[in-house]
Amino acid sequence: MNEIKIYKGLIETWRKFLPVSKKTPVISLCEGNTPLIRAYNLERKISKDIELYVKYEGMNPTGSFKDRGMTMAISKAKEEGSKAVICASTGNTSASAAAYATRAGMKCVVILPAGKIALGKLTQALMHGATVLAVDGNFDDALNVVKEISAKYPITLVNSINPYRIEGQKTGAFEICENFVPDFHAIPVGNAGNITAYWKGYKEFKAAGRIKRTPVMLGFQAEGSAPIVRGYPIDKPETLATAIRIGNPASWKQAEAARDESKGLIDMVSDDEIVAAYKLIAGTEGVYCEPASAASIAGVIKLSGQKYFSKRAGSKKLKVVCILTGHGLKDPDRAIKVSKTPITVKPNLKELMKHISL
Ligand code: F0G
Repeated sequence: MNEIKIYKGLIETWRKFLPVSKKTPVISLCEGNTPLIRAYNLERKISKDIELYVKYEGMNPTGSFKDRGMTMAISKAKEEGSKAVICASTGNTSASAAAYATRAGMKCVVILPAGKIALGKLTQALMHGATVLAVDGNFDDALNVVKEISAKYPITLVNSINPYRIEGQKTGAFEICENFVPDFHAIPVGNAGNITAYWKGYKEFKAAGRIKRTPVMLGFQAEGSAPIVRGYPIDKPETLATAIRIGNPASWKQAEAARDESKGLIDMVSDDEIVAAYKLIAGTEGVYCEPASAASIAGVIKLSGQKYFSKRAGSKKLKVVCILTGHGLKDPDRAIKVSKTPITVKPNLKELMKHISL
């Protein structure tokens, strides 16, 4: 009889590349192995010089890429005997930490910037039983205080300054390379952990002889929260893409290294460009991501407008992968705000057909 192979999550899949041993209790929700989807409709609208792919990280168990890092951070915290974890978050990290900590039988404390968390993310932290505290300040303030608490009390920090988070997140690069090595890798940048992780993943896969070259890294911040682009921390970061509303990224230096080593760039996109890309990907491909994720698409559209790709294209189309970091369902309020409200019609054929064009 054939044995049915069940996917067991990214630690079991990529064990060789991760700092785990037989002693590590693997806390997994079968994260990773997310779809890499060719965006045919969108690529036709953007540029004749590119093949556009999206890595749909919203398909992770808690709906964002954070699960990749969290399976590692929580498994290692458990291995080290920790009983509780803490994080600051713009929402997705807290949702993921709450889920994985619960599964591990650990306490979870999350500190959020008051009033700036998308509704779906907040419901996740609450439903998974975390202690949820809002602070009167932004993500950067929350991260500072969380660092202080974890230095003084027996509670493990699971923000991306925890190196195990980066280890888990780098597996996204491995999954992409199992298909092909992109020419360009486009990614939203907030606290800058994910761009750091992907670049580490690509470099390690190359060092292991699994690929021959690495992609050019293209990072995108929101215009009102673009410290790396501007070259200084932003005291009061603003953007409707609340996930990346960050003024002083923890992995700033590493993000710059990824940019420079790969001969890439970190640029910014406006909230209007983000919303346009957010609607476009949902409305042309059937792929629903949250606003921050659409910064990667918005960035590719912006660069294409500047002939960035056409200047670099040869006889073959360039392969561009955009990381769609979180699911659209995370932020229902934003979706409602950018959409037409459905009209109410009497339930009869004639009335309904007045509003349906075929
Ligand atoms: N996209 C989404 C959906 C995010 O939630 C985040 C970060 C990013 C992009 C940026 O990734 O920080 O590694 O550069 N969210 C963090 C959080 C800050 O608390 O959930 P990054």
